[in-house]
Amino acid sequence: IVSAFFVFTLSLMMSFAYLTIKDRIPQILTKAIDTLHRHKNEMFEKHGEKGIEAEKKAISLLSKLRNESQTDKPIVPLVEKFADTDIWNQYLEHQQGLLNDSDGKPRWFYSPWLFVECYMYRRIHEAVIQSPPIDDFDVFKESKEQNFFESQESIMTLCIHLRELMQIIEHLDENQLKDEFFKLLQISLWGNKCDLSLSGGESSSQKTNVINSLEDLKPFILVNDMEHLWSLLSNHKKTREKASIVRVDIVLDNSGFELVTDLILADFLLSSKLATEIHFYGKMIPWFVSDTTIHDFNWLIEQVKYSDHKWVSECGANWENYVKTGRWVYHDHIFWTLPHEFCAMSQVAPDLYAELQKAHLILFKGDLNYRKLTGDRKWEFTVPFYQALNGFHPAPLCSIRTLKAEIQVGLQPGQGEQLTASEPNWLTTGKYGVFQFDGPL
Ligand code: F6P
Ligand code: MG
Repeated sequence: IVSAFFVFTLSLMMSFAYLTIKDRIPQILTKAIDTLHRHKNEMFEKHGEKGIEAEKKAISLLSKLRNESQTDKPIVPLVEKFADTDIWNQYLEHQQGLLNDSDGKPRWFYSPWLFVECYMYRRIHEAVIQSPPIDDFDVFKESKEQNFFESQESIMTLCIHLRELMQIIEHLDENQLKDEFFKLLQISLWGNKCDLSLSGGESSSQKTNVINSLEDLKPFILVNDMEHLWSLLSNHKKTREKASIVRVDIVLDNSGFELVTDLILADFLLSSKLATEIHFYGKMIPWFVSDTTIHDFNWLIEQVKYSDHKWVSECGANWENYVKTGRWVYHDHIFWTLPHEFCAMSQVAPDLYAELQKAHLILFKGDLNYRKLTGDRKWEFTVPFYQALNGFHPAPLCSIRTLKAEIQVGLQPGQGEQLTASEPNWLTTGKYGVFQFDGPL
């Protein structure tokens, strides 16, 4: 039984969790408020006076939220009706039940970190939906788009690489195909460095040519199960009947550069016939600053399609076509923006769990997904990944994650301690990464 005592709580002064709530959350809220301010004219043009009133209301709700977090107020239930409001409030009650202090109210600095961080993003969404007619405003849209534009050159290099690969893919032997697969997996891994929540929403784009850096980055992969992914998919390719489906599901993380790396990998999986269908999962509401929503997904494909560079634009056109023909399927589900860890999915969202069970392989991108896979607990570094998943095994799965939170399992004895001795912040800088697989070998 996994006890709540071992969940990361915020009261550990100077922990990364504490610094996130103390510094990063107010910074993200201030940036959101500033973004609303700067879009005042646009809101007036779209909705007249009502737009201005709504903008003021959203700003005042966000300022109140910032004050609540900074002064360690109790965490209050959600008030605005939305698809997930009841589940959130039940979860909050459950948190209350876990407390043993006198007033029995979870507070910003004395609650599990994962819960508080998710709650903050959900409250941002509440402030926006409480402010019609601007209730579909994404306060992070601008930062996500900026990340994409600032990564233009790297995106172009990757798209050209993909187009070149497509021209020779039929002629590659097994080993060459495997090399290319590993290359694109690593690109997708390091693409995860570019999330915006760690930098408080400030620019975190990709400016260097990541393909040339892959060899130098290899020593920073702490758990490397890429071989398992290859055997799994290449076996399916060899043994599958004609017209049967091999499905890879990708639980997306950040939009912008990282999403491009994921789409390139997804394109390769189809073109190499390692998979026949890719299913993507994004967020239903703006989340952890840079996480992908359906709007970001479509917007990015469109941007790539309308690139001035012929080969880049061909990538965009192909991607659009995959979506149209159903070889790429995008799914929304409210579960991804709940505070629950993934081992609760079969109870809280059985339909989603059943959907994931249809996959031959599920790739979970990013740090937040890792925290939810492992319940954000203070596991010993050597605890097997299988154990930390705590019963969550819908299909063979792999976490592709750069480390940005104080949690890591499945290391060799002494590996974590050695890293701590030489680099005290190794868990939180995004410098290290893992391909961590769970499934039958
Ligand atoms: O606070 C930093 C942080 O928000 C972590 O809590 C979170 O795990 C991470 O950034 C988001 O990273 P990613 O985009 O890789 O999930
Ligand atoms: Mg993210």
